[in-house]
Amino acid sequence: MMQIGAEATHEAICNWIKKHYPPHAEVISDLMIANSATANITALSYVGENYGVGDGFLYRGYDHHDCDMISPVTTYFDLRPAQRSGGMCFHFESDDANFDVLVLSAWVYDADMNNNLMCIASVPQEHMQHWLVFEKEVQRIYQSAIPYRGKVYIVGGVETTFDATIHWDEIYLPEQLKTDILQDIDAFFEKGVDIYTRLNIKPFRKLLFAGVPGTGKTMLCSAIAGWGQEKDYFVVYVSGSNQYGAKFWKIHEALEMAASSDAPTIIIVEELDSYLDDDDKAQLLNVLDGSESPTNKHGTIMIATTNHPEKIDDRVMKRPGRLDRIFIIPEMEHEETARLMLMQYLGDAWQEDHRQIVPKLLGRPGAFIREVALYALTMAAYRGETELSLEMLRDSLDTLVNQIEAKDGFLTSHKKQPMGLAAERKAKRNGFRIHDE
Ligand SMILES: Nc1ncnc2c1ncn2[C@@H]1O[C@H](COP(=O)(O)OP(=O)(O)OP(=O)(O)O)[C@@H](O)[C@H]1O
Ligand SMILES: [Mg+2]
Repeated sequence: MMQIGAEATHEAICNWIKKHYPPHAEVISDLMIANSATANITALSYVGENYGVGDGFLYRGYDHHDCDMISPVTTYFDLRPAQRSGGMCFHFESDDANFDVLVLSAWVYDADMNNNLMCIASVPQEHMQHWLVFEKEVQRIYQSAIPYRGKVYIVGGVETTFDATIHWDEIYLPEQLKTDILQDIDAFFEKGVDIYTRLNIKPFRKLLFAGVPGTGKTMLCSAIAGWGQEKDYFVVYVSGSNQYGAKFWKIHEALEMAASSDAPTIIIVEELDSYLDDDDKAQLLNVLDGSESPTNKHGTIMIATTNHPEKIDDRVMKRPGRLDRIFIIPEMEHEETARLMLMQYLGDAWQEDHRQIVPKLLGRPGAFIREVALYALTMAAYRGETELSLEMLRDSLDTLVNQIEAKDGFLTSHKKQPMGLAAERKAKRNGFRIHDE
């Protein structure tokens, strides 16, 4: 396949417009690089009908414009048409005048062989300001992922959206803690945003959920996401799961989306510590201070989780204003909560004498209780038992405790030598510097 470089394409498009698009010369026009969002079919479909671009001019839709030099080729994103190459003619009208803007877009390859859409517009000189207003609106829609409202939008993940399905009641944590968290968020959007704004402070609040693995932090995030969706807030989930991993620019991208949002926005960053290379720490400070984060006047809350609060700089942890609140998400503290959770996971198999193991669940994370229940149920079914005896439940608990203790012992004795993937990742994080700890 032949690849045409960006420069040649650029020239060819400009020449084509001059030669084959008569209005370019008839109405004195400028050529400009247009924002590639203007060639995004889905974003365009969300521009308001009759969107006003100033001086009484309204946007009246667009047509595809034949251009024998560029074949229309469309990319699809999450089952919707996204960028489209080829020609598009945008129409604008006021009571006594009208004008068109032609945009030609072509795929070009950069040095890394990524294809990008180069868009060049022919804009009547006297309507440049009107066009720029339109372009800004399309860019805003594109950036704020308005087409994806109603779902949780994922930045940097393998998927684009997900539905939050966890409900508050499914999370077994102290009621007071759940209430405190939800009230903090609700109060911020309901009242805080106005107060911050009045005091000339950016309405940007940051919460951290810290706790050992498996205590329900991800569940909490998912429940908050679902709550936000019900309220028609914009919810962005920053994911480290695509090929780029946990990279700081993803947080930045989410903040920019929040700034373009016309709704209160919740940003969820799981495992915040993994986004913090040494180089990124200073940037994070600035972002958390708000000095480098664009503002959303409807308010933005960032919720981060971590298993390793100690890895997050003291400058972040100990100074309110960077992370405003830290909620410790605990292991099971109360027998009553542990019993309810065990009952929930055992379902119909629950028997009164199962209560006897409840004290042994204290001090363990929720994920532990879940595994005790699931393993016991699976083994009972596998052995063809119709009931889950206390003994089988005890067995499940004991094997899990033994396994955890054996693993802890193994890890402690191998702590000095990181192995395999872990070592490789660590080396990468350190830029392949040899590092003695
Ligand atoms: N408090 C809880 N209430 C109900 N279920 C829980 C709770 N904690 C953990 N679980 C169960 O354990 C699973 C793992 O929990 P979750 O992913 O929320 O933990 P986490 O705190 O995010 O862990 P990590 O820090 O490792 O990411 C959940 O899917 C759920 O089934
Ligand atoms: Mg988690």
